[in-house]
Amino acid sequence: MLMDTKRKTAVVCGAGGFIGGHLVKRLLERGIEVIRAVDIKPVGYWHQVSDDVENLSLDLKERHNCLLAVEGADLVYQLAADMGGMGFIENNKALCMLNVLTNTNMLLAAKECGVDRFFYSSSACVYNADKQGSVNASPLKEGDAYPAQPEDGYGWEKLFSERMCRHFEEDFGMICRVARFHNVYGTHGTWIGGREKAPAAICRKVIEAKVSGSREINIWGNGQQTRSFMFIDDCIHGTELIMNSDIETPINLGSSEVVTINNLVDIVEEIAGIKLRRTYDLNAPRGVNGRNSDNSMILDRLQWEPSIPLRIGLEKTYRWIEEEMASRVVRSAA
Ligand code: NAD
Ligand code: GDD
Repeated sequence: MLMDTKRKTAVVCGAGGFIGGHLVKRLLERGIEVIRAVDIKPVGYWHQVSDDVENLSLDLKERHNCLLAVEGADLVYQLAADMGGMGFIENNKALCMLNVLTNTNMLLAAKECGVDRFFYSSSACVYNADKQGSVNASPLKEGDAYPAQPEDGYGWEKLFSERMCRHFEEDFGMICRVARFHNVYGTHGTWIGGREKAPAAICRKVIEAKVSGSREINIWGNGQQTRSFMFIDDCIHGTELIMNSDIETPINLGSSEVVTINNLVDIVEEIAGIKLRRTYDLNAPRGVNGRNSDNSMILDRLQWEPSIPLRIGLEKTYRWIEEEMASRVVRSAA
């Protein structure tokens, strides 16, 4: 069923995070009334805070907080999750699995409050590891999630919660839309602290090497592993399209521009105007060897796919992280 978004009200969960913060801004631009933006973090720690929205700090692992969050909303965007890049998910599997409390209680609250639609942000980490063993692995199609052998911890929880959405739709008639995000990067995201993903981490490391004069960068793994990276604007546009669509099964939302991590470093070095000596940490968290998004389904169903070139998105991300790092230096000197 296609959705008429006029006069709809929305709640965004995980709004203090990277994607949620951008989503709130976009929904407001579209004229959708965002009645509530919710995150476990105190509002002062959110990446972006929007005016004219009720910004609430609530732990959505708790059922009563989920009811407070969704009350009166037509549309629920459930992005809240304890997560991060490989450095976080490989070392915090129990915390990642505990996201199941948030997803379960959010679905129950949405059902109880009779919301029109529920969006769930799944991940490419649901895909079977055997399909990602080679750096030249074929792009992942939606069917490649089964037989199930997802990323330990984080991926299992995502796969389980996807299926919960499916059964809430089948058994309770609740309309659920599920996107499998592939590595998303951009401005106003995490770039330091241990949860950052490769694009932001590499930008930060290149800037650090440039500013300190060390001229050296440490890369996790051997640099030959492959990924595709989706710029935030494509992620937000795709999220809107999928939420408004009649697509009842989980669908890839990712770029199909595949690069090695060494290629990623090349591009960031070019943006920075510097060449660095590379060292490789073969014991660091590395994840799968090769991952890319097969976009046949999204092209077929929506006649659209993420297309912002990595070079363009990385330039914006690099400049933003550069400004963030400079303002930290100014603040700590003051
Ligand atoms: P993020 O960490 O920046 O944002 C997630 C937000 O959820 C955080 O601000 C966090 O404080 C909040 N949160 C965590 N536990 C909560 C709880 N119990 N109650 C309320 N809020 C809670 O991450 P993001 O990159 O914006 O990701 C958003 C969603 O997309 C997540 O579900 C994530 O798993 C999924 N996803 C992201 C990527 C990516 O590359 N960024 C890839 C695949 C899937
Ligand atoms: N984070 C990070 N930091 N990764 C690095 C670094 C670094 O300094 N240097 C090299 N890498 C390598 C990692 O070892 C990994 O092989 C690759 O870059 C990508 O790492 P991440 O961006 O951290 O994660 P990912 O692509 O393996 O998985 C991410 O994307 C999924 C969706 O596609 C994670 O964010 C998952 O949580 C997410 O669901």
